[in-house]
Formats: sequence, C-alpha cells, structure tokens
Amino acid sequence: MRLCVIPGDGIGPEVMAAALWILRLLAPKIEIAYAEAGWGTFQQTGSALPAETLAMAQASDAVLFGAVASPSHPVTGYQSPIVALRRALDLYANIRPVRSGRWTSGEQPLVTGPVDFVVVRENTEGLYSGRERSEDDGDTTIAERVITRRGSERVVRQAFDLARSRASARSQEAELALRLSKVTIVHKANVLRVTDGLFRKVALEVARHYPEIAVEELLVDTAAMHLAQSPRRFDVIVTTNLFGDILSDVGCIHGGGLGMASSANLGDRYALFEPVHGAAPDITGRGTANPVAAFGCLVLLLQWMHQRGLGATEGPSLDRRAAALQTAIITTLRDGVRTPDLGGSATTEDMTRSVLEYMQALLAHQA
Ligand code: NAI
Ligand code: MG
Repeated sequence: MRLCVIPGDGIGPEVMAAALWILRLLAPKIEIAYAEAGWGTFQQTGSALPAETLAMAQASDAVLFGAVASPSHPVTGYQSPIVALRRALDLYANIRPVRSGRWTSGEQPLVTGPVDFVVVRENTEGLYSGRERSEDDGDTTIAERVITRRGSERVVRQAFDLARSRASARSQEAELALRLSKVTIVHKANVLRVTDGLFRKVALEVARHYPEIAVEELLVDTAAMHLAQSPRRFDVIVTTNLFGDILSDVGCIHGGGLGMASSANLGDRYALFEPVHGAAPDITGRGTANPVAAFGCLVLLLQWMHQRGLGATEGPSLDRRAAALQTAIITTLRDGVRTPDLGGSATTEDMTRSVLEYMQALLAHQA
C-alpha cells in the first residue's frame, strides 16, 4: 500500500504532520511518498500541480491531501490542483460524512440527538464540467450542465453500497442500531427535466438492485431545508455536483463546523482523502489548527483500505483501528481538549497527543 501525501499550503502541512503522527501508529506498514502542490509550489515552479506530483499520485494507491491556497484574483497558468487531481484520477464520488457535534460546548446544538449522515456528491460532471463560454461580446454567458447515464449510475451505486456498509456497521452501535437504511436521491427534475430527469431515472433504476434499502426523492431546495432543520431524517444523500457541493457545506454545520469535516474522493482505481477546510491563512503558524478533519480522513482511508484488502497488519483489523481512532477523537473532544474554533484553548499538538494516548490504550485493549 503506497500513499501519496500532499501537505499543500497554510495549515495543510500543520494538520498533515499531526495526521501522519497518528497514521504511523495505526498502519506502520504504509509506504509514504511526499509530493508538492498548491500556491507555494506554483510560485516556485510555475505549476500548482507539477507533473512529478501527478505521476506520484498515479503510482500510488491513494492520496492524502492537506489543503491548498488559491488566489482570489485570476492568475495566468494557475489551475486548482485539487480539481485537476479529481479529474486526472477519475475520482467520481465525493463522500462527506457528518456526525453530530454533541461534544461542542457553549452554543446550543441545532438539533437534539445524534446526527449521522453522508452526502455523496457526483464529482466529475454536472455544472462543473468546465464547459463555460461567453457570447455577444461577453453580455451573454453560458454554462453547460452535463449529466450522463454512466456518471449518474456509478455515483448512485457508490451511495447504495455505502448505505449497505453503514447498516452493518451500525448494528454494533446500540444508539443507532434501529435506524432505517435509506438513500435520499436529491434533484430538481421538475425544472431540469432533461438533465435531472436522466439522473433521477438512472438513480431509481440502480435502487431496484438494493431492495433492503429504503429510497426517497427530494427536490434540492426542500432537501436544503430538511438538512438544516431535521438532519436526523437522513442516512445517505446522493446528488449531482453543484447541489452536492452546497448541501455538503450546509450539512457540515451539524458536525461542529469546518475544522471537523472530512471527505473522501473515490474512483474505481484511486482514492483521495482531504479535509473540507482550506488553507486558513488567518490561523496559519499559530499551532492552533483543529486536526480533527484531517484525523477523520485517516478513518476514511483505513476503512477504504480495509474494504480493498490493502495494507493489512498484524493485530486488530484496519476497520477496528479506524473505529478506535474515531472513539479516541470523540473521547478527546468530550474531555474538553478542543482547539479555539471549538471554543477551547488546546493546540493542534495537545489534541494530537490526547488522541494518540487514547488510541494506544484502545489498541492495546483490542490486541
Ligand atoms: P478556509 O477553510 O481556509 O477557512 C475558513 C475559516 O475557517 C477561517 O476562519 C479558518 O481559520 C477556519 N478554519 C478552517 N479550517 C480550520 C481548522 N482546521 N481549524 C480551525 N479553524 C479552521 O476557507 P477560506 O478562508 O475561504 O479560504 C482560504 C484559502 O483556502 C483560499 O486560498 C481558498 O482558495 C483555499 N481553499 C482550499 C480548499 C482546499 O484545499 N480543498 C478548500 C477551501 C478553500
Ligand atoms: Mg464546497
């Protein structure tokens, strides 16, 4: 198992260092290859995603990505490396799990009871296909929304497979065991009759192959309201690119905010794991970045490796190691060891040490 590690800019290298500290304990046999990308790399080399980085990613099984800074003004030759990587590695499903922030102090939680859902977003087509143009001397602008049967089918399959594996994992957690497995198909087929008409049709076809999983459909605007107000009604949500981008940011409120949100970008061959947050220039260098989003990426990485039969080690299986990490994170947060974004005063290092200690204890107990 070879992992390409791209720390990037700003707090990317800070949270990545913390994550690697933990990964070395959890999966010591992973071979790690470091690569560069981002704004700093662009300034040094003229490319935000150098050919060597792409080659290294392609020669690895998976990528662990920190965060990169992108200039807010247009810069000639600059292209977002994460968007380019998703395309080059054909990472068609963007998976964003949200678990409730019951541990956050101070502010009242938005809802009572545990929140636990996943947004699965199509990652390669839709309104982000890059087919944008300008006509009439720039007075008319057009973006094409590309929806294909193949693109829809493969992302919806990912969503149903995920619902299936969540159901079996949940049976071990008393609090959530009785919950129904469900996939919510989100679209706007009443207006976008052709493109979302196809997405909806294909999604309902795929659903027939998973008779044990409940299916519902929601229009995207209604889905946004429910996601803000009653997130506990959701299990797995699957939708097209732009809708998924927006809904997954709405959803991450229930998980404790940006410092807590992790994502997996999955394809048939490769996978890339990244925190949802960016380079956070306002807190870079202070040692106070919340590493939980990066730790959550490790949970997703280990679960993915377990499913693929990659990098198995002696002792507890990789999915049990992932569960131990999850528990260590939650226990650390419940202890009040929290970075300033969660209302605490802990540093990145404090949180990392606490998670490491709990994890060592949990793994020793399992062994
Ligand atoms: P951001 O996610 O970097 O920061 C937004 C706010 O959340 C800031 O106040 C920041 O301090 C806070 N925050 C983010 N992550 C945190 C963490 N782990 N711990 C504590 N606080 C955290 O988004 P922003 O400010 O819009 O963008 C900054 C730069 O990052 C830009 O150059 C943008 O292009 C880039 N960016 C990169 C992404 C990526 O690499 N995938 C995603 C989003 C933005
Ligand atoms: Mg977004």
